[in-house]
Amino acid sequence: MAFNHKHLIDITEYSADDIMTILETAKNFKQVNERRIKKVPTLKGFTVVNMFNEPSTRTRSSFEIAEKRLSADSLNFGGSSTATVKGESLVDTVKTLCSYKIDCIVVRDRWAGVPRKIADVSGVSVIDAGDGKHQHPTQALLDIYTIRKEKGHIGGQTITFLGDLKYGRTVHSLGYFMQQLGNKMIFASPDELKMPEEITAELRAKGADITETDDVKAALAVSDLVYVTRVQRERFPDEESYNRCKGSYIVNNELLKAAKKDITILHPLPRVDEIATEVDSYAGAAYFRQAHNGMYLRMALLGLITGRVQ
Ligand code: NCD
Repeated sequence: MAFNHKHLIDITEYSADDIMTILETAKNFKQVNERRIKKVPTLKGFTVVNMFNEPSTRTRSSFEIAEKRLSADSLNFGGSSTATVKGESLVDTVKTLCSYKIDCIVVRDRWAGVPRKIADVSGVSVIDAGDGKHQHPTQALLDIYTIRKEKGHIGGQTITFLGDLKYGRTVHSLGYFMQQLGNKMIFASPDELKMPEEITAELRAKGADITETDDVKAALAVSDLVYVTRVQRERFPDEESYNRCKGSYIVNNELLKAAKKDITILHPLPRVDEIATEVDSYAGAAYFRQAHNGMYLRMALLGLITGRVQ
């Protein structure tokens, strides 16, 4: 089926077919990246603005590299060096950028809903690279790509989401895609950091098989995958509530004794202390491979969204 999306903002607009198209395209770009000359002309003459108003290592660098490999012109914009600190509104900033005839804006912001607002005023393609505690769709797509690569298939598996499911935006997006692709989900978190009720209810209404628990060992014993998230310190209302939650779960060799033998361990990174470094040498520890896959996935998405890849 033809890919027909101008934006990646509302994940519910993406069907299982769309996800598979993105994954297949990413596989082709992986081959490009194995050549000595890794640049392709796919986005020659296109201009992409990376508007990052929140810290980022992997998302930002993999988008930038993806754009360079695709021969796009790109502008890295955002943070404290822009006129936003002088009080300029988002709308005025976006209008100005668009007057330079850009083609796509990749946006990360601390506020939920900013990508949609930019799409409404800009008229160009917008990709949500993480908006507050809301969504992080490109991360979820690279997570799915990684799961298929690690396990050989996607679907019919059980995944435990472990950690800060309240503020962690990656699991909000991944939960939706995992449901679309027919997987069982276990939500394991401290009581204060449970998956927002409206997300769980929406997923269940779509037919998702979800169990909520605080028994991490029991969850890992039946899971093919565990997706660990960091306690999102920057989103807590105060330091006291963060201190109550930090360190409340740690994946280490001891805990993994309770897990399925071939469990795959995922994490969007950065990690703080929720996965002990001793776990890194475990064959199923896939989090650095996962970060690497982000580059192919983002190349694929940029190609498809601009209509340059069919
Ligand atoms: C995540 C994010 O920004 O939401 N990081 C990422 O993009 N890989 C996860 C996090 O910050 O904990």
